[in-house]
Amino acid sequence: REQSIKAVRGSFLDITRTVQHPEEIEGHLRFIKDGLLIVRDGRVEWFGDWEEGHHQIPDSIRVRDYSGKMIVPGFIDTHIHYPQCEMVGAYGEQLLDWLNKHTFPAEKRYNDLEYAREMSAFFIKQLLRNGTTTALVFGTVHPESVEALFESARHINMRMIAGKVMMDRNAPDYLLDTAESSYSQTKALIERWHNNGRLLYAITPRFAPTSSPEQLEMVQRLRQEYPDVYLHTHLSENKDEVAWVKALYPERTSYLDVYHHYGMTGRKSVFAHCVHLEDAEWDCLHQTQSSIAFCPTSNLYLGSGLFNLPNAWRKKVRVGMGTDIGAGTTFNMLQTLNEAYKIMQLQGYRLSAYEAFYLATLGGADALGLADTIGNFNLGKEADFVVLEPTATPLQQLRYDNSKTLMDKLFVMMTLGDDRSIYRTYVDGRLVYERT
Ligand code: GUN
Ligand code: ZN
Repeated sequence: REQSIKAVRGSFLDITRTVQHPEEIEGHLRFIKDGLLIVRDGRVEWFGDWEEGHHQIPDSIRVRDYSGKMIVPGFIDTHIHYPQCEMVGAYGEQLLDWLNKHTFPAEKRYNDLEYAREMSAFFIKQLLRNGTTTALVFGTVHPESVEALFESARHINMRMIAGKVMMDRNAPDYLLDTAESSYSQTKALIERWHNNGRLLYAITPRFAPTSSPEQLEMVQRLRQEYPDVYLHTHLSENKDEVAWVKALYPERTSYLDVYHHYGMTGRKSVFAHCVHLEDAEWDCLHQTQSSIAFCPTSNLYLGSGLFNLPNAWRKKVRVGMGTDIGAGTTFNMLQTLNEAYKIMQLQGYRLSAYEAFYLATLGGADALGLADTIGNFNLGKEADFVVLEPTATPLQQLRYDNSKTLMDKLFVMMTLGDDRSIYRTYVDGRLVYERT
């Protein structure tokens, strides 16, 4: 890749460091009304006030001027299924019926590399047009699915984490691997893709009901062989699911205890949903430094339940936002935060715009163990960012103009915003999406 320098002007907003309590976020908020970002070779080289910095922009560089827009770090989606784009918004079921009726048939087609390539390109476009620059992604059971996705992401040097699903029971034959094949296929994919450019691998057993104890032993073996590879799965999403896991693994004390028993908890582990956790499970997540992906639109859409975000803060468990396409109903992080606010309303907790914005950026990076790499504009960080247009519709314009504080403006953006709010998306310092 050629050496490159880029200079971007506009209003910037980010959060300078990770926090342990939501009240701390405001103290680390950095808003620069007339700011300048200089990117060299995909990394932040200089960031600050335009007045202070513009003298050092090389003459040969044309400044991208986004004055009047709001530039923020790229959004981070900590849980999403790329092979479920085809069935977003499928009618009528809760989790277990939904999987059988809609999800498994949709995933069937991904044994076809050409089809997987087509859908990978579609999927990445959807992420970018929604301002999402990093995602933790489920493939299907087919290694081809992940091969295609990584190829696509590698093309634009996107920081993406993904994995082939491991599942050897309780699903249609056409989606099953075996303990042995899931081990060898995962191993080959890790060798090929983990740390290939900015790509990272996640060992991805679907969830406890679709893995035999023998397969979870293979997961454990992979974890021992590759301790810095991610672990990505579902946990305690739906009450019938929880009861089923207890029936399948009666010797374990809880759903999470199944995963913990097989060495699946830890600093690189991300558990999607966590809606119905028992106290001991919260403690285990904390002690093992595991993370949670909070998936508001999915939890509402499948009627799964209300995630207890304040408990995650209390228990010091890191949380990121997930869209969970295709149980979730949008790729858009602003809409996802809007639904998160409503979920917290139903539980008597006020989700502030700052907390929401944190979860979608630096907090999400932290949940993925990438807080030193992405999530804000600190020097040396990878330059993934989004240019937001706060006034893309007449209603947004009216409400934005009537908002006095930064907090109010940000809150209106997350409540009324959608893909029209995404004006430009940059990955690795390069423009990868322009709204037309
Ligand atoms: N649990 C196991 N598989 C899935 C899936 O594909 N989507 C969701 N939302 N939950 C799951
Ligand atoms: Zn999911």
